[in-house]
Amino acid sequence: MCGIFGFEGKFNAEPILVEGLRRLEYRGYDSWGVAYKKEGESNLTLKKETGRIIADVNTSEAATSENYMGIAHTRWATHGGVTGLNAHPHLSADGTFAIAQNGIAENYQDLKHDLITKGHQFVSETDTEVILRQIEENLKTGSDDLFSAFIQTFKQLKGRNTVILFDSKNEQIFAIRNGSPLVVGKQGENIFIGSDYLSFANHTNTILELNNLQGVKLHKGQLEKFSVAGPELEILPLEFIEVEVTEQDIDKGIYSDYMLKEITEQPQTVINATLSTEADLMPLVTAIKASQTVYVVGCGTAGFAAGQISFYLRKLAGVKAIELKGYELDSYRDLFTKEDLLIAISQSGETTDTIEAVEFMKSKGGKVASVVNMLGSTLTRISDLPFFSRTGPEICVASTKAFTAQISWGFMLAEALQGNYAQAKAEMQKTSEAIAMQLEDQELLKNIQEVVNYCAGKEHAYVLGRGQNFYIALEGALKVKEITYKHFEGFAAGELKHGVIALVEQGTPIIAIISKDEVEADMLSAVAEVRARGGKIIAVASEPNELFDYYLPVKDLASTSAITNVVPFQLISYHLGKKLGNNVDRPRNLAKSVTVK
Ligand code: M6R
Repeated sequence: MCGIFGFEGKFNAEPILVEGLRRLEYRGYDSWGVAYKKEGESNLTLKKETGRIIADVNTSEAATSENYMGIAHTRWATHGGVTGLNAHPHLSADGTFAIAQNGIAENYQDLKHDLITKGHQFVSETDTEVILRQIEENLKTGSDDLFSAFIQTFKQLKGRNTVILFDSKNEQIFAIRNGSPLVVGKQGENIFIGSDYLSFANHTNTILELNNLQGVKLHKGQLEKFSVAGPELEILPLEFIEVEVTEQDIDKGIYSDYMLKEITEQPQTVINATLSTEADLMPLVTAIKASQTVYVVGCGTAGFAAGQISFYLRKLAGVKAIELKGYELDSYRDLFTKEDLLIAISQSGETTDTIEAVEFMKSKGGKVASVVNMLGSTLTRISDLPFFSRTGPEICVASTKAFTAQISWGFMLAEALQGNYAQAKAEMQKTSEAIAMQLEDQELLKNIQEVVNYCAGKEHAYVLGRGQNFYIALEGALKVKEITYKHFEGFAAGELKHGVIALVEQGTPIIAIISKDEVEADMLSAVAEVRARGGKIIAVASEPNELFDYYLPVKDLASTSAITNVVPFQLISYHLGKKLGNNVDRPRNLAKSVTVK
């Protein structure tokens, strides 16, 4: 939620800042802004706009011998509508400094009332402006300088807030992290500050990570890292590390959209996700065997992956595994014990709802494992047993390759618990090959196009799954919803006769996922029941049946069928989204990394 970027060095600031924002747009794209200046100039330049960044950025000629500095922000609105006034950065009354924020200052109303009584005037509806005015107030009433006022204000904030400030008068930038991530990059004299390292990965792979309550101060090329965790400011060593990201990882390459690129990468990414060796998995296998209950936690698509992983743990390995949505932690608080284990599933590793569940389990003394795609993310760092999905950056807001990677990892874990690691590895190889064939399968692609044409004229569609395909139905429907804005809803096929069948009308699209498993007959009965009531049957299945109006062929893979069954939904989502003229990489109202509650 919201992307923050900062820069000081020998590049023209505007293209560098805008380019950084472009790479952070997945975090929010309601509006954006930049505040910057050239060293020695008296005034800063402030630009703010609503909507997505449309300016072309060309940084190839941005290098200069002069020094520039500035900050930038791309917004996912929380407090205050999508307007130019609410866009960040927000400028101080005297025009000498600007701030941008990622998070929510939960006590902003109390602070604002107090500031109004002290005569401060507000031009926006944001909690960010409250932070700005509080800094002004602290500067006026006691703080020695802007940096002290910044720290003093930060400590007054409730909630999780990451804030960056550009002091144009003294030509310095301060940033401090709490909750939403912040990373620093260094390339010679150029220093970058971003919500993730991909935002500056085209300039450098040398990064400095910040934990919560840590910050940086940047002044004329000098970088200082500090902590505000204790009563006194503590200066910390600058420990840079190298990360492995290539430009190819973050480039669309031959594809028109990241979504299609990422769907197409899955034959490789499901294999990468299972690169953990048996020895790598063994500490987790041992911890699961020693635990009382295993909670598998995630939200959104990662929440459905958590459901699928808990299904594999129960069904294949007999483990008492419970799926838990991070945001539903509350009713589970009294159940968590130190004998339990929590497995957190997250692409970004920064989802606040998931992190809260992890922190709570840790406070109870239980162990935490995680499966995360972003190296160095918060979840990775607070987990006892961190694992990586290894899909490479997933840039499209809708998750595709991260989901198949997460559930592939879960399948391997469940099999490793049974001592079937080697056999599972071979099954994953076949799964990868099956996805590769699907992506080339002309009959499947032609039928998907027909389904897309049919669904384009419909407002509602229902997806039915059972057993291994239940969570695939939920995820399949979410994928189509996110990209097409059509109401696709996933259901347990077993729910049909308990109420859902009331929704079926003449021509209602019903997408049924049918594998050759122990619930196949039940699925076919459900299909017959909706067909008898006029439903148009679209089947994701490994063999045709006269009950089907549209047939989307998939390979029967026994225990791993679910992994390949989600791919047709990704393709329906992509092609229907394109047909409707939607931006498939940046769907409306969404942000990829949900770092607010
Ligand atoms: O980064 P995470 O995997 O923790 O994110 C969780 C969800 O916000 C995410 O899966 C979201 O549902 C995506 N839009 C799914 O496409």
